[in-house]
Amino acid sequence: MSEDEAKSIRPRRYRLVRGQRDVLPPETSLWVRVEHAAHELFHSFGFGEIRLPIIETAELFEKSVGTDTDVGGKELYYWVDSPRANRAIKSVRWKAKMTASKVSEPDSPPNAELLRAAHAGDFDTLAETDRVALRPEATASVCRAYIEHEMQQLPQPVRLYYMGPMFRRDRPQKGRYRQFYQIGAELIETPRPGGYGWMEDAATDAEVIEMLVTFFTRVGLSDMTLYINSIGDKECRPRYIELLREELNKVKDGLGPDSQKRIESNPLRVLDSKIEEEQRIIESLPRISEHLCEPCRDHYKALKHNLDLRGVIYQENWRLVRGLDYYMRTTFEITAKGLGSQNAVCGGGRYDGLVEMMGGPKGTKGIGFAIGEDRLILSLQESGKTPTAQGRDVYIVWMGENARSIAISTATDLRASGRSVELPVVEQKIGKALGQAAKLGTKIAVILGEDEVASGQYTVKTLSTGTQEKIQKDGLLDFINRQFV
Ligand code: HAM
Repeated sequence: MSEDEAKSIRPRRYRLVRGQRDVLPPETSLWVRVEHAAHELFHSFGFGEIRLPIIETAELFEKSVGTDTDVGGKELYYWVDSPRANRAIKSVRWKAKMTASKVSEPDSPPNAELLRAAHAGDFDTLAETDRVALRPEATASVCRAYIEHEMQQLPQPVRLYYMGPMFRRDRPQKGRYRQFYQIGAELIETPRPGGYGWMEDAATDAEVIEMLVTFFTRVGLSDMTLYINSIGDKECRPRYIELLREELNKVKDGLGPDSQKRIESNPLRVLDSKIEEEQRIIESLPRISEHLCEPCRDHYKALKHNLDLRGVIYQENWRLVRGLDYYMRTTFEITAKGLGSQNAVCGGGRYDGLVEMMGGPKGTKGIGFAIGEDRLILSLQESGKTPTAQGRDVYIVWMGENARSIAISTATDLRASGRSVELPVVEQKIGKALGQAAKLGTKIAVILGEDEVASGQYTVKTLSTGTQEKIQKDGLLDFINRQFV
């Protein structure tokens, strides 16, 4: 290779994958503060943290969230992950390569069924565990864990919370990422004989919502709106959906292609539409609140009463149907300022029946929410709650070999007492060192030169005021710590 050629080959610069992002300091300190507040508050409501895997079987989400929904359908990141299935796929690809034409069925396949599935891309015929997914949400995982660890044996209800990354292959925009973070809580209960009815469920829903609103208030999200709704249960919702479908078919021509498709697949989702031209039509559609069965109507009434008792302010929104299949009765969402079109910072609802549908104990109920942490942080930043750059408490300026070891032990002692310390690895001229200390937002510089080492009197400079004093070495720690109370 010539010298010129070598020069022209530059190492590739790797960039973020679309929809991904890095969160850097000082912003991360705001994230830590928010997460800390969640740990503290959720504990005070009796919730314990659950740490869940990021990878689950794809079917877990398809069954619970629903393949007709975006989250459990086209946005799910999944792949085939089993040596058996991968071998089958490889063999199909290899044959395709060999014949360099459209592959026909392999001659004597070791597992014809699997090969055919891999060939056709028909993943439904693969075993459930052959396909795994990056979790798009965590409610399904919490229910899976509840069943797997037989948590119905524990005192009920079981209160769990989680935080961590979720993945959805959606079109990225402000406040919408392909990897995003949620802080969520779930309250799951397998009723004992003679257990609670809808009255107590409504009080539980209200307490979970109260915890959520308290959390937002505590982290400083001032401008928020809580919307609530009831979407009925398996008694009344199917009837309402049929009615809605009939009415939608009458006005079909006025709807866009997405809504038209949803009339058949998931008519409730038409109510979610933000398309300007569809709003007038949607407003004229029958409302679920007028079609709830008696227990659902009573439950919804009791929910509102329990929210009032707790002083939680809400607005009713009959169009709040949520984009996941597992909800029944209570649904809620919180929107915040400064987020543009992606203004939902939290969504949640009741999902009685989900645990049972996933093979868990009969009659198990659930209610929970998930906060979009990325959006919460964005909204806090928009409202001026930016984190201050993380400055250092102390910068140690040292000059000369004798001062080096004292600088190291001083840094160790200060760090042990909780101070953040910058200790330059090389000796610096005093002017440069103090300049660097100021750039790092340091409060105090400890100066250790030959004189200080000889006299045992260290020079301590307060950078904001420029004042400087000599401190006896034994009193240094105390003196510095007093500057931070
Ligand atoms: P979800 O409404 O799909 O509900 O998501 C909850 C929150 O996650 C949203 O309100 C939003 O703030 C945030 N979020 C969703 N997608 C994105 C994205 N692509 N980028 C940034 N933030 C996003 C659930 O996930 C349910 N599991 C909530 C739940 C828990 N229901 C009962 N228990």
